[in-house]
Amino acid sequence: MASVPSLAATVHQRVSDALSAALPEAASADPLLRRSDRADFQANGMLALAKRLKGNPRELATKVVEHIPVAATSADPDSVIADIEVSGPGFLNITVADSAITATLAARAADERLGVPHAPDAGTTVIDYAQPNVAKEMHVGHLRSAVIGDAVVRILEFSGEKVVRRHHIGDWGTQFGMLIQYLIEHPHELDHKDQASSGEEAMSNLNRLYKAARSLFDADEEFKERSRRRVVDLQAGDEETIALWRKFVDESKLYFSSVFDKLDMEIRDPDVVGESGYNDMLAETCRLLEESGVAVRSEGALCVFFDDVKGPEGKPVPLIVQKSDGGFGYAATDLSAIRDRVQNLQADTLLYVVDARQSLHFKMVFETARRIGWLNEKTHALQLAFGTVLGKDGKPFKTREGETVRLVDLLDEAIDRAAAVVREKSEKLGLSEEEIAERGAQVGIGAVKYADLSTSASRDYKFDLDQMVSLHGDTSVYLQYAYARIKSILRRAGEGQTPVAHPELPLTPAERAMGLHLDQFAEVVREVAKGYEPHKLAAYLYQLASLFTTFYDQCPVLTAEGGPSQAANRLFLCELTARTLHQGMDLLGIRTPERL
Ligand code: ARG
Repeated sequence: MASVPSLAATVHQRVSDALSAALPEAASADPLLRRSDRADFQANGMLALAKRLKGNPRELATKVVEHIPVAATSADPDSVIADIEVSGPGFLNITVADSAITATLAARAADERLGVPHAPDAGTTVIDYAQPNVAKEMHVGHLRSAVIGDAVVRILEFSGEKVVRRHHIGDWGTQFGMLIQYLIEHPHELDHKDQASSGEEAMSNLNRLYKAARSLFDADEEFKERSRRRVVDLQAGDEETIALWRKFVDESKLYFSSVFDKLDMEIRDPDVVGESGYNDMLAETCRLLEESGVAVRSEGALCVFFDDVKGPEGKPVPLIVQKSDGGFGYAATDLSAIRDRVQNLQADTLLYVVDARQSLHFKMVFETARRIGWLNEKTHALQLAFGTVLGKDGKPFKTREGETVRLVDLLDEAIDRAAAVVREKSEKLGLSEEEIAERGAQVGIGAVKYADLSTSASRDYKFDLDQMVSLHGDTSVYLQYAYARIKSILRRAGEGQTPVAHPELPLTPAERAMGLHLDQFAEVVREVAKGYEPHKLAAYLYQLASLFTTFYDQCPVLTAEGGPSQAANRLFLCELTARTLHQGMDLLGIRTPERL
């Protein structure tokens, strides 16, 4: 595996070298190289530098140019820069040689990682994502954590980071007293009639039971009392009670895994460590916090106070670690999870893919962990806070009856819509019903994931299926069709042979534009991994597909006007584009069918 320097990196280096040769005191100045419309690159650094040194920027730029070797002919194999000129108040416009573009791309193509190096500073990240709640339906809010989390896992692992996944499911709390008590009194409520649809059936059983238990709890004081006693049994670890509690957890997991399957997402059982997984640590966590003075008793509760967290009338709002009745809540569990992740799992980075509406909770939890030293310069924590999924009307997504939308219903609808699109286009391909169904799922789920991943996580977005499965515009379907089209060209050229690059050939503008973009892949992946920003990868891929569309309009491939070597070079560009799209979409967790 070799790291392939991009043309941008090479040009940057050449200009830096020329800068320090022309002006020794500028040795460490940044040439501020950018992609440009007027040439391939523009270097703007001369302006600020001349200003700082009280010189004339055009003169400085001219001197720099004198120190940059330019190819006599663009076929000169060693030359990267074909043309460089001073423009405006002192910019440099730089054009790279066609041969350099093709040669660099050939080096990327020769690497199975497309020239993407492993990050030099890789460490261990524990990522908390895809965390639904036991005995509750998954709703649209659970979609984002799963989709964004899965993409971030893939991107980090590809970058060489060691990633530990944690699905912090909500599997503990007083509501289980009521549920378990109801099940004891109605023992067959969770039985299955139909093995085949077990995930869905599990959820509908749980739903029915939840509703029935709730209304009994609200109506019947004696049941309420029995439920309360059941909570005490549960917390005391009473065997029969725990066995029934586990039944709820197992039923829910059956359901979760059917939803994650539909989402085409792998959730491994050992990574599911719910709130209950930290029960043994809670008392110790509280003791450590209290002994260190980080937490104090206030009206019987164990609390952590913050100067900048105030409620109405300026009253401080504390983080409650232990309630006055001795019960532990969400914060105690999260603080214990931090201890586990730092001390046992040896994490350098803790990542939480959780709704922005929980930001205050995490802010207080992280600050508490910092005060006691569980988090420090070596280990830091970050919430990847995501925005709300909105309906077409721009309000939080609800059904017409005003209820939260079930995630499975949304996914099924997306798959149906996508299957209709695939069916319409499938006549030419002669796809079977089975193939239409399979691709419908890949396109529909891809559409849902892409819509989520292509806007920056922190922003809200509108869930609009019409837009999501459109063949035009910034959608996964557009990217999937671009990929399938390239695959069909490659098949027509003859399966199994690797197209050969021809750096000696001049490139057309469409080829150059696509080539320069392909060359940026490694840099984009690095930036995306560093900032946890899948939307930048989506934007890169969309642009690549658009550049391919232009290329395909303007440059015949199999019937290239310049003969067989130009056809080969164009096939080479096609293939590298396909591999880049495939790799990029894979990092987003989206399939790219070979035929569509
Ligand atoms: N189960 C929670 C919910 O559905 C999300 C859990 C987030 N993770 C955590 N460590 N608190 O809102």
